[in-house]
Amino acid sequence: MKTEVAIIGGGPSGLLLSQLLNQAGVATVVLERSSRDHVLSRIRAGVLEAGTVDMLREAGVGERMAREGIPHEGCYLTDDDLMVRINFEELTGTSVMVYGQTEVTTDLYKAQDAIGATIIHGVEDVVIQDADSNAPYVEYTLDGARTRLDCAYVAGCDGFHGVSRKTIPADKRREFERVYPFGWLGVLSRTKPAHEELIYANSSNGFALASMRSETLSRYYVQVPLTDKVEEWSDERFWATLKSCLPSGVADTMQTGPSIEKSIAPLRSFVSEPLRWGRLFLVGDAAHIVPPTGAKGLNLAVSDVHYLYQALIDAVKKGDTAGIDAYSERALLRIWKAMRFSWQMTTMLHHFDGEDIFAAQMRKSTLRHLSQSETARRDLAENYIGLPF
Ligand code: APR
Ligand code: PHB
Repeated sequence: MKTEVAIIGGGPSGLLLSQLLNQAGVATVVLERSSRDHVLSRIRAGVLEAGTVDMLREAGVGERMAREGIPHEGCYLTDDDLMVRINFEELTGTSVMVYGQTEVTTDLYKAQDAIGATIIHGVEDVVIQDADSNAPYVEYTLDGARTRLDCAYVAGCDGFHGVSRKTIPADKRREFERVYPFGWLGVLSRTKPAHEELIYANSSNGFALASMRSETLSRYYVQVPLTDKVEEWSDERFWATLKSCLPSGVADTMQTGPSIEKSIAPLRSFVSEPLRWGRLFLVGDAAHIVPPTGAKGLNLAVSDVHYLYQALIDAVKKGDTAGIDAYSERALLRIWKAMRFSWQMTTMLHHFDGEDIFAAQMRKSTLRHLSQSETARRDLAENYIGLPF
């Protein structure tokens, strides 16, 4: 087979890149190891920066998001009963959009189908060959048949556990990592959200997040030790812990109910540099992971696509390589800013094992400062809604 850009991974970054390239007349083939149902069954976050909303509109998948997404003009950071509202609209003139990553991925698959894009599911043993040459190709197995896909460029959109990053020789890579000593236990429930805006709660009982997917579908998280197992957490225990972390005014009135999804996710900050090796470009989770506290995971993947898609169009259509030559450096500048913000939010809102009372007091003082300093709130708001591309 032959194409212009081979895209490894049919998650949000691979699909968005493929859609934007196809719209510009650049041919792509998306190779995804899982079935479409499996990709769409993953519960992921759902806060979209303004820049991400614009990119999705540009890709022609803005209609359902506009209809079903919920614009949020602010969020809350709380410390027991101290509630600090971060008014995005007032502080930055911009808001965010609450719209699940699963919905974004669904819309992208629909848009790709509508233009007859080539997305191959169930591929195995993907190997990227000769990425450091002018004639890269990808080999994979499908239904037992080994296939070769010749291409001009390869986009590695295959997430943290994919093959793309590992295709870059270890001595050509620099990896930065922080693994946090706790995870997030997340629950999805068909209940009315506890509050009309998100609440990031630091409390004497640990961290919690109250989020939502719609007016009738809520998403909650509590901080748990990494050793915990989902089976150890009954719904009763989850709701009791969540309520102990949220401001009493919210906890006393919130609706609870049976969980329809429950899972534990570890927290990690990770960056692999560079994002390019020859004609291979890393995008999204293949190159970086953020803890979910800053709601940057999906937005950073879209940010990478923002820097890469036009660059690839110029390279394929005009042979102009200025954009692809600058991709890694440009994308990393924004990645590190989001890394810092996500690390800051995580350290500011979570209990660390063995921490002393001084550390706890620092969290309290940081939140009190936020409640008293418009400058501090504006800094947080600017980072949360998304720094300029
Ligand atoms: N061959 C083909 N496909 C692969 C391979 C492989 N060897 N390895 C992984 N994949 C597929 C996965 O099955 C997955 O569907 O690549 C896709 C990667 O998708 P994501 O992990 O969602 O990564 P990305 O598209 O970069 O989206 C980043 O996802 O994890 C969240 O918080 C993260 O929101 C961020 C977003
Ligand atoms: C979510 O809705 O799942 C969510 C929202 C904000 C975050 C993380 C997760 O920071």
